[in-house]
Amino acid sequence: MKKIKIGVLVSGRGSNLQAVIDNIEQGRLSAEVAVVISDQSDAFALERARTHNIAAVHVSGRGYKGRREEYDNLLVQELRKYGVDLVILAGFMRIITGVLVQAFPNRIMNIHPALLPSFPGLHVQQAAIEHGVKFSGCTVHFVDEGMDTGPIIIQAVVPVLDGDSPDTLAARILKQEHKIFSRAIQLFAEGRLKVEGRRVVVSGSAAASDDFLINP
Ligand code: GAR
Repeated sequence: MKKIKIGVLVSGRGSNLQAVIDNIEQGRLSAEVAVVISDQSDAFALERARTHNIAAVHVSGRGYKGRREEYDNLLVQELRKYGVDLVILAGFMRIITGVLVQAFPNRIMNIHPALLPSFPGLHVQQAAIEHGVKFSGCTVHFVDEGMDTGPIIIQAVVPVLDGDSPDTLAARILKQEHKIFSRAIQLFAEGRLKVEGRRVVVSGSAAASDDFLINP
């Protein structure tokens, strides 16, 4: 199978990037990380890329306040330079514009640490605890021009436990993020994702199970 080229946008520590790299190196993902781009020069994710001989590019966001489209144009140029087929947002903490979305229609995926459409935005583990939900989780979705609103590809569910802090819940969710992001990328690489309106239809997936979870 042809390996797809991924461009990864990051702002921080890059544990999701690391999981993707590890899955590629272990032959579980038919993809190649062509470039890692960060808006933060000191993002540890850039360091991880360099360690694996992956192009690591800093595109500073400074001075682009109110000029987000211009910034996104720089990103598009970089991503095109590396011949990227799929863009993944792996903890990229900037709001992106139509410039980027239209350059890669249904070819940008984001990972979000909540079960969308609940709890979009920031500080979502704390929001889930405060709301009192019994389950939370993570979502990989295609990116559209809204904030955390695009068609959902895959979700994983974890319980919210009595005594959870935002950090303990985030850690439980992160473990699942590391699995489902690669899974979504592999489905894309295999050409199995079809966007029909808001729904993402996954061809050839196993029959759905009607197992359920109860908490407590
Ligand atoms: C992850 O939990 C990801 O879901 C979240 O940032 C973290 C990045 O961690 N993304 C968002 O909140 C996007 N709105 P990482 O740098 O270790 O992959």
